[in-house]
Amino acid sequence: MLLQVRDLSISFDLGGGVVSNPVRGVSFDVPEGGRVAIVGESGSGKSLTALAIGGLVDRAKISGSIAGSPRIAYIFQNPMQSLNPVMRIGDQIREVGAIDLSLVGLPAGTERKYPCQLSGGQQQRAMIAMALAQNPDLLVADEPTTALDVTTQQEVLELVDRLADARNMAVLLITHNLGIVAQHSSYLNVMYAGEIVEAGPVHDILYAPVHPYTKGLLSAVPRLDRPKDAFLADIPGVVPPPTAWPTGCAFHPRCAFAGEDCAIKSRVKCMARAPRY
Ligand SMILES: Nc1ncnc2c1ncn2[C@@H]1O[C@H](COP(=O)(O)OP(=O)(O)OP(=O)(O)O)[C@@H](O)[C@H]1O
Ligand code: SF4
Ligand SMILES: [Mg+2]
Repeated sequence: MLLQVRDLSISFDLGGGVVSNPVRGVSFDVPEGGRVAIVGESGSGKSLTALAIGGLVDRAKISGSIAGSPRIAYIFQNPMQSLNPVMRIGDQIREVGAIDLSLVGLPAGTERKYPCQLSGGQQQRAMIAMALAQNPDLLVADEPTTALDVTTQQEVLELVDRLADARNMAVLLITHNLGIVAQHSSYLNVMYAGEIVEAGPVHDILYAPVHPYTKGLLSAVPRLDRPKDAFLADIPGVVPPPTAWPTGCAFHPRCAFAGEDCAIKSRVKCMARAPRY
């Protein structure tokens, strides 16, 4: 196994006696060359989990174990924030390694350009080039295409797939978008309120979700095989902040199936699919 995360918890002391625990008991695996996704609403702890596996979370109390020491490279949602605006693309890439830019579909001459001279899709390709120049075993792609139009999004993700295949590189994809997961990942972890509430092969989860939160996420996805005027369900409410995680099952205030026990005991009946580590 390339990476084994077990019971990872991250907490921050916010001062004044307030402790925030945005990641709680998270366990998942990334096999060599595997395609693993983490999906969940904003604030569920996806990015913190991804940063923690690279040792990139500061000023936090971290517990649990992270076994395996893959070379990890990251690409993030907004390449303009990650690229140095006053440095030519070629110089930025040479700082971390070497790579032929045509491999990521960038035209000749791109290395002499500054980030602001590239389109959003080209900037993300430059970020991918920079990540690959580090020769990683694991590419963490945290919402890599959210800022791009749908066509460019598809091109960038197909590029990541091709490069990952060619290099036997694992990809940990973090996204809100279950459509993207269906096409680009083989194993899915669904995260809510800092915990993984359901995990399993993508196909199994998408065709037969068990957890009410996963069911809610799926019923909120527009589908071409439904009538055009079909009701698109949403999950009522929002993810609470980590300083106010509900007791018991954290999803209970939003869950249509909640029973009395759900506010007291965590994971009363909805962990059927979760792997036992
Ligand atoms: N350095 C920090 N100190 C305190 N709280 C933090 C810190 N970093 C993140 N958090 C909190 O942890 C929670 C989870 O954050 P995280 O960035 O992992 O969410 P996310 O699932 O990636 O959301 P999004 O989809 O919006 O990117 C948030 O409520 C956030 O405010
Ligand atoms: S444990 Fe209860 S509240 Fe939580 S998801 Fe299951 S039914 Fe809903
Ligand atoms: Mg995030």
